[in-house]
Amino acid sequence: MTALSWGRRYLMCRPEHFEVLYEINPWMHAEVRPDPDRALAQHERLMATLRDAGAQIELEDPAEGLPDLVFTANAGVVNGGQFVPAHFRHPERQGETPHDIAWFQSHGWRVDRLPGDVVHEGAGDALPFDPEGGEGPVLVSGYRMRSDAASHTHLSRLTGAPVRSVELVDERLYHLDLTFCPLDNRRAMVAPLGLDPYGRKVLKALVPEPLVLEDEEALSFAANSVVVGTNIVMPACPPRVGRQLEAWGFSVAVAPVDEFQKAGGGCRCLTLALDVVLSDLGRELLPA
Ligand code: ARG
Repeated sequence: MTALSWGRRYLMCRPEHFEVLYEINPWMHAEVRPDPDRALAQHERLMATLRDAGAQIELEDPAEGLPDLVFTANAGVVNGGQFVPAHFRHPERQGETPHDIAWFQSHGWRVDRLPGDVVHEGAGDALPFDPEGGEGPVLVSGYRMRSDAASHTHLSRLTGAPVRSVELVDERLYHLDLTFCPLDNRRAMVAPLGLDPYGRKVLKALVPEPLVLEDEEALSFAANSVVVGTNIVMPACPPRVGRQLEAWGFSVAVAPVDEFQKAGGGCRCLTLALDVVLSDLGRELLPA
């Protein structure tokens, strides 16, 4: 097996303005406020754990009034030197996009936009899988809860990558990154709870050795993990999952992020991989 070709560079955003001010997923309750100091400390520890795992971290500035900007996974889709910004479903998050675009533009990415009438929530709903012996990476993308199926054709046209659409069916697992976590070129964590029968079939055909998560495991956000080579940083590690990952040669580190779970997010949601290359087009746009 070959390790993931991506996952060594991440964009993150310090939780200086993180709060639960509105409710746009079933985990958010405006009366259950995150503790700001604990959130900062957990974020700090997540960054330290990722660095120990071998990752490099870049930071975007937090912004007042944009409490979910910390969930950088939703900023957009990265393809080499190309960035396709998200189109958020909820008005509460739409103000994040100009900030994200400004960061990517000032750091040398070419920004290509989806048409205004389709919704797509970035890498939170789009993760590459590059199957052994395949023809290159396939972008697995979720739809129904927070992204439109119609966005997938546009995403494929813009990035030049084949997109495999999977329907998300459980409101608690509202983004793909709560249901699917690529581990290498043969393996991924997959939570059937979040997928319709056809989506399960699509992932079964794509991933030769899935680590199939039980419902409880999926609801502990086990799939919302960050994979840095053979190191996996998880918000929680159910024992059975840990044993399987270790048997496969991965090392697991837990970085608790329960303050962020109050907003419906785990470790993966707090990161956006900057080193994903989906196609020749993206590769050609990388700085020489
Ligand atoms: N409160 C945020 C929202 O509902 C959480 C985003 C979590 N991000 C993710 N990639 N799953 O939009």
